[in-house]
Order: sequence, then C-alpha cells, then structure tokens
Amino acid sequence: MKYAIVGTGARHAMFRDAITTTHGHAAELVALCDINDHRLALSASRVPGQTGNGVATYRPEQFAQMIAEQKPDTVIVTVPDYLHHAYIVAAMRAGCNVITEKPMTTDLPRLKDILDAQNETGKRVSVTFNYRYTPARTQIKDLLASGVIGDVVAVDFSWHLDRVHGADYFRRWHREKDKSGGLLVHKSTHHFDLVNWWLGSVPQSVSARGRLAFYTPQTADRLGLSGRGARCHDCPVAHRCDFRMELEADENLRALYLDAEQHDGYHRDRCVFADDITIEDTMQVGVAYRNGAMLNYTLCAYSPWEGLEIRFHGTRGELTHKHVEVHGVFGGRREAPAGEAMTTRIHVAGEPPRSVEVWAGEGDHGGADPIMLGYLFDPQAMPADRYGRSSTHLDGAWSILTGIAANKAMSSGQTTNIATLLEENGLSL
Ligand SMILES: NC(=O)c1ccc[n+]([C@@H]2O[C@H](COP(=O)([O-])OP(=O)(O)OC[C@H]3O[C@@H](n4cnc5c(N)ncnc54)[C@H](O)[C@@H]3O)[C@@H](O)[C@H]2O)c1
Repeated sequence: MKYAIVGTGARHAMFRDAITTTHGHAAELVALCDINDHRLALSASRVPGQTGNGVATYRPEQFAQMIAEQKPDTVIVTVPDYLHHAYIVAAMRAGCNVITEKPMTTDLPRLKDILDAQNETGKRVSVTFNYRYTPARTQIKDLLASGVIGDVVAVDFSWHLDRVHGADYFRRWHREKDKSGGLLVHKSTHHFDLVNWWLGSVPQSVSARGRLAFYTPQTADRLGLSGRGARCHDCPVAHRCDFRMELEADENLRALYLDAEQHDGYHRDRCVFADDITIEDTMQVGVAYRNGAMLNYTLCAYSPWEGLEIRFHGTRGELTHKHVEVHGVFGGRREAPAGEAMTTRIHVAGEPPRSVEVWAGEGDHGGADPIMLGYLFDPQAMPADRYGRSSTHLDGAWSILTGIAANKAMSSGQTTNIATLLEENGLSL
C-alpha cells in the first residue's frame, strides 16, 4: 500500500518511521506535503535508506498534483486540527482513503464537509485513537464486557495534565479555540472516544463549565515574571521562568521549529501567560448517554501530577483505574518526576476489593502506538481485533460531538442536546 503524509511536524514522524522501517515490507511512503519547506526537506532527509529528497515532496498548492503523480492509496493527515477537514475531503474526493490524526476536525461545518464527502465517495477514514490500544485501557473494555461489575450506570473520569505537558497546549496553535476547538475537542476527543467505546454508546446531552484560570498574565505577575516577552527564545525573564521552552537547547526542537521559523513565522515557544489565549485550562463536563449511562468529567491543565483516574459505577460493583503518567514533552520544569504507575481495582458488592494485574505494553502512550501502527499498516500480521479498536469517521464524529456540545454549553450556560445540534446543522449520523 502506498501512503502520502500531509503535515511534517512533530507527530508525522511516528507514521513516517512506521511505514519506512517497522512495516516497510507492507507499506511504502511515496510523498510528503507541507507548507514549510524546511520541515518538508528535513523529513524527507530522515526517510531511512534515502539521501536528501529521496521521497517526493510537495507544497499544499500541489496536493492534487501529488495525488496524480504518486498515486497514494491512503493520505495521512497530520496538519494542525483546524486544517484536517480540507485534506480529508480533498483526499477522499481524489479517490484515496484517509488516516487522520485526532481530533477528526474542530467544528460542525467542517464535520459536515467530511461526512458529506465520505457519504459521496464511500472512502474509508480512520481516526488514530491510539488511547484505545493502550493495553491497560483495552483491559478495561475487556473487564466491562465480562460483566464483572454489571451494567455501567455512571462514570467519574478526571484527566490531569501537569505543568509541563499541560503548559505545552498554551504555546502554539492549540491555544486558539478556532484552531483546535479548545482542549475539550483537541485533547478530550481521546477521552470521550474512550468512554463511547467502553460504554458502547454515544452522547445524548452535554452540560459544561470551564474557564481559563492559570495560564494568564495575572499568574505570571504573581510568579514575579513581569517584563516577559512574547516568546521564550528572546524573553528577558526566561531564565527565571519554570515554564520556559528552550528551543535552541534541544536538537530536535531546534531542527523542527527554530530553524524553520524564517519560512512561516511559526513560533513553537510563545509565552504560556500571554493575554490572547482563547481556550480554557479547567473544564467540567456532564454527559448523558443514549444507553442511560452518565459521565462526570474533569480536565485540568496545570495539575501537580500527570495522569488519569476513572471510576465506573456498575449494578454489581465498581471498577477503578488510575494511571500516573510520565509524558515526554519538552519545555518547562518537572518537579521530581514520578515513575509510571497503573492500578486497576474491582470491588464487587459483598466481596473485598481486589487489584487486577494491569496489562502492560512497550512504547509511546502506555504501549498503544506500536499496536495501533501494526493494525494500520500491517493488519494481516496482527491477531483479529476482538475489541473493535479501529475507528471510522463515525467514531471520529461522536468523539468530537461531546466537546463541541460542551463548548456550546459553556458559552450558552444551557445543556446541549446533541440530536438538536445535529439537526440544526444539517447533520445525521
Ligand atoms: N494522537 C496523539 O497522541 C497525538 C499526539 C500529537 C499530535 N497529534 C495530532 O497531530 C497533528 C499534528 O500535531 P503536531 O504536534 O505534529 O503539530 P505541528 O505544528 O508540529 O505540525 C503540523 C505541520 O503541519 C504543517 N502545516 C501547517 N499548515 C499546513 C498546510 N496548510 N498544509 C500543509 N501543511 C501544513 C506545519 O508546517 C507543520 O509542519 C494534530 O492534529 C495533533 O492533534 C496527535
């Protein structure tokens, strides 16, 4: 199978390397496309076994030419979120299947474009929900399906981004709501997808509150960071800031972003305390699902620790899962990083609580990424997937609908009914 990748930033390297190394016998990378000539050439030079531009490279305005000349079967979309839809639609209309990074897109008009194009072309859109493949999270699906806690009636779910990982969403395009949909779309698409998949259901109505509480000029002033600059690179107080990102000190960040700035003015290290941030850093969401289950969800982006806690309340008992994570994001200072730790416990009514041996895996995102890449690029070599982890445009849509509905609920102060939202926007799923 032939692949082309659009967007040669940080994330695309995982796909490029999987196609050209681990799964090179089953997959072929034929082209790369990006708006930034430096990143494009850098990626091409890193394709193993090639020197220089061994793989064909194209600029965005040459997208149609790229498809015509290189004839990829599948286009992989790894551009910023608000641009996904344009390439997903163009690829399908040009006869290609699509693998897209999450979130599938950021708002309802873009979602409509994708669903219309998919409907008209019948092409396949796979959304890379790698979190489903984390063995510990697959195990939760397995345990819930076993019926050990009975029917799941309610879920308490909190996701904690620490001050290193969390801060990174406030440096670049993620921090603009019209570019990422805010964290309830950009980040929580993973979490809401997990809940949809675990429960085997879809959201029906959503209430939400949220605000920007920490990544503000007031916090910076409180930390004694007055006189700060617009970005870390030339900030006069960077040496005193625990949140600084040192692009020049990291070989990969320098090559990918600092050395590429002259081409597009994309600054990877903007001040996390700037006054033009339009996303929230603290959010609470309540969701009612079609099967009657209920969810309480919290996302905090400046937590003292990184990880997640989840509790399923079932008719026979409770299942709890906690993961203390270490995330490999650059920039900022992490106090005494804790080691990875995962626990899963089951407490059936009338029995003592018991710990379950947590399924483990090797690789990024708790062992998720290598498994997902196997199913994407060499499915014949993988065991049949009894957990239904591969995801389509429908999973992509349902996972962002919770966040989009929550954004609406935050601004209106009203509960958002998803059926009404879909109808008002000419969408049906
Ligand atoms: N699943 C995960 O765990 C995970 C992790 C990281 C990122 N992501 C997703 O991957 C995507 C990319 O994130 P990233 O961190 O690599 O971002 P990035 O900013 O590092 O890279 C984006 C690339 O897109 C290019 N680009 C911008 N506009 C373009 C255009 N019009 N046409 C073609 N190329 C263009 C940029 O030049 C850049 O090279 C995002 O959607 C993000 O949500 C997913």
